[in-house]
Amino acid sequence: MTNTYAIVLAAGQGTRMKSDLYKVLHPVCGKPMVEHVVDHIIGIGADKIVTIVGHGAEKVEETLGGKSEYALQAEQLGTAHAVQQAEKQLGDLDGVTIVVCGDTPLIKSETMQALIAHHSETDAKATILTANADDPTGYGRIIRDADGNVLRNVEHKDATDEERSVTEINTGTYCFDNRSLFNALKKVKNENAQGEYYLPDVIGILRAENARISAYVTDDFSETIGVNDRVVLSEAEKVMRQRIAERHMREGVTIIDPNSTYISANTTIGRDTVLQPNTIIEGQTVIGEKCIIGPNSHIVNSTIGNQTTVHSSVIRDSIVGSSTAVGPFAHIRPDSNLSDNVKIGNFVEVKKSSLGEGSKVSHLSYIGDAEVGTHVNIGCGTITVNYDGKNKNTTTIEDGAFVGCNSNLIAPVKIGKGAYVAAGSTITKDVPESSLAIGRARQENKEGYATKLNLN
Ligand code: UD1
Ligand code: CA
Repeated sequence: MTNTYAIVLAAGQGTRMKSDLYKVLHPVCGKPMVEHVVDHIIGIGADKIVTIVGHGAEKVEETLGGKSEYALQAEQLGTAHAVQQAEKQLGDLDGVTIVVCGDTPLIKSETMQALIAHHSETDAKATILTANADDPTGYGRIIRDADGNVLRNVEHKDATDEERSVTEINTGTYCFDNRSLFNALKKVKNENAQGEYYLPDVIGILRAENARISAYVTDDFSETIGVNDRVVLSEAEKVMRQRIAERHMREGVTIIDPNSTYISANTTIGRDTVLQPNTIIEGQTVIGEKCIIGPNSHIVNSTIGNQTTVHSSVIRDSIVGSSTAVGPFAHIRPDSNLSDNVKIGNFVEVKKSSLGEGSKVSHLSYIGDAEVGTHVNIGCGTITVNYDGKNKNTTTIEDGAFVGCNSNLIAPVKIGKGAYVAAGSTITKDVPESSLAIGRARQENKEGYATKLNLN
């Protein structure tokens, strides 16, 4: 078995992005571009991955963590120079090495595998992944001889008008015999329009040495998109979005309108869940089976059980159980934990609170810093008064308690097990188990008073 290595180029600043964020860290469907690339490489089972870092090296290493090894390119002198930085880790090894740019997030594992297979079938020393572009502007062009053999690559900026009319482009992904690669790199010069050491020049160098060069043409140009600016970033986002939606649909998720549904790359969704239009699911989110999410819902970094509905609501950094209903128009803020069979109705805000099994907050309430037990009923308009201007205080509502409408629970305070709070109460003292608390002015009726006021 031949060993397979991978080099990911991720040292550039990405000037054309006009951004404080390094290019390869720009997210596509919520995941940094370079992480998409590295995950696809992991998908082919590479024996060693070396990512070339430079601009934002620390941040890139922090993002990829243990998924890759790293080589520093302190000065960005071009893509050939970048690959050379991996010589310490890879130079002495036998095997094939694929090189992928960190700004091509759409390249699939299957395509890399097909590239490697083509490389070994054609017994080549270098195989370049090419594609036909409708608009090849900016890409390197593949120059072939009359018989169709690849001679070299020419960069857009160095190309003649005739060369620019070629629509077959260098996708920036290559497969090399590892030793031939590192030998050829030593011969790359920087005499070109950009004064850079170009990696694709290796193709011409090996060709001049009569090494066998292959090209593998992919018919899916979209897969090879190189993100150099934000316009292309949005195109990549669109392709990735469709791809993610398709993956979920093939796994048994119904997406009513994939064009208005946004699912992050790191979301998992169970079978028979339905995503209604205008739903955005971000970050690391897990949604169970048979849920109905949306319309108009925004879920970020949250875990949701089975058979739960989330209608026109926002859920952030929280856990929601099974057979629970959220919304319409609810806001579940970070660190909330809603158990099973919970009901959160319209215009309810929950923050950093836990609600036990079967508890209900059906209308117009604020539940913040609260620990709510099981089967608690919280009436319309209830407010946990959690903030005294300095500290956030906890409200505890024990199992089976019933809080009447329009109550203020001034924290820290505890409503005991099975206790009742009369509607309209302002509760400042703990309510003992199984008792009724009434904290409001007693009503007085002045009989006949209205008639007296009415002077005729
Ligand atoms: C490159 C190719 C071009 C190809 C295109 C495909 C070269 C010279 N040109 O052009 O033929 O059509 O990709 O998308 O290779 N990088 C480094 N160190 C450097 C320079 C770049 O790590 O010194 C990294 C960048 O971070 C980026 C990648 O290499 O991830 C590609 O560099 P970029 O400047 O985007 O090259 P292109 O001009 O797009
Ligand atoms: Ca590029």
